[in-house]
Amino acid sequence: MNYKKIFKKIAEDLSTIKDKGEVANYIPELSTIDPAKFGIHLTTVHQEDYCLGDSEEKFSIQSIAKVLSLSFAYQLEGENLWNRVGVEPSGTAFNALFQLETDQGIPRNPLINSGALVISDILITHLDNPKEDFLKFVRDLSGNQSIEFCQRIATSEKATGHRNAALVNLMKSYGNIKNNIDEVLDFYFNLCSIEMTCNELSKTFLFLAEYGTSPFKKERILCKSKSKRINAIMQLCGFYDEAGEFSFKVGLPGKSGVGGGIVAIYPNKYSIAVWSPKLNKKGNSNKGIQFLELFTTETESSIF
Ligand code: DON
Repeated sequence: MNYKKIFKKIAEDLSTIKDKGEVANYIPELSTIDPAKFGIHLTTVHQEDYCLGDSEEKFSIQSIAKVLSLSFAYQLEGENLWNRVGVEPSGTAFNALFQLETDQGIPRNPLINSGALVISDILITHLDNPKEDFLKFVRDLSGNQSIEFCQRIATSEKATGHRNAALVNLMKSYGNIKNNIDEVLDFYFNLCSIEMTCNELSKTFLFLAEYGTSPFKKERILCKSKSKRINAIMQLCGFYDEAGEFSFKVGLPGKSGVGGGIVAIYPNKYSIAVWSPKLNKKGNSNKGIQFLELFTTETESSIF
């Protein structure tokens, strides 16, 4: 399929519509990004590449990294993981507090902030050098040793991340955080600060299109069943209180981040990354979702 031609046509169509979103500013460093950036990269399971626009520019992947920390924790902890975090869609904002009180410190799923904080806690328990070991996992998985945390963004979020501090404290009071709170927050802010290009992001996530095997590491990261479950969680929880809308419009498992990135998976076919920094009211890339809706419609590549 000539994906490049389809990208161009959709990008042209979208350029005539006003992008109504707003760049995230609650993490001050994220607000400095040029709102007009727009990149796309698709990698097929046969490792054919198709791209458009600012696809080679690094951006902050933010919550997209939660899928990578979940995959690593699932590999290390196995099914015990689900004693500490659920697999239900939350139907709430990514940083909501109230649900956690009702649920007695057990997050609804690993992709909302509370869930990703519990996953961070689990990784800290397992790893000797949590940040270094996690970065190595991501680099090996993507076949790219140049992937880094961004200290500027991690520090900026640390200074303003009061809601995440509230979440982790609340969970600690219920006994669902085992390590030191500052260490958990530091790991989590670093995790979210990872920077990738659309090209790197689509390649990093290709293992979820390949039933758990990284084509770069040439190694199994997750067994088939675990890989299926990660995709299932992305399908139901990847866009918070817009997960239903994303399924409805796009029809692929995916994950967003407040840096404006979205990655989506078509199992056994491709992984696609889109970047456009303006976010809609639910905190997901406005143009990114519009693009993916038109793309899966045009290519008839929804999993449903
Ligand atoms: O914890 C936060 O608020 C950010 N580091 C990540 C949030 C995020 O990316 C939500 N995704 N759309």
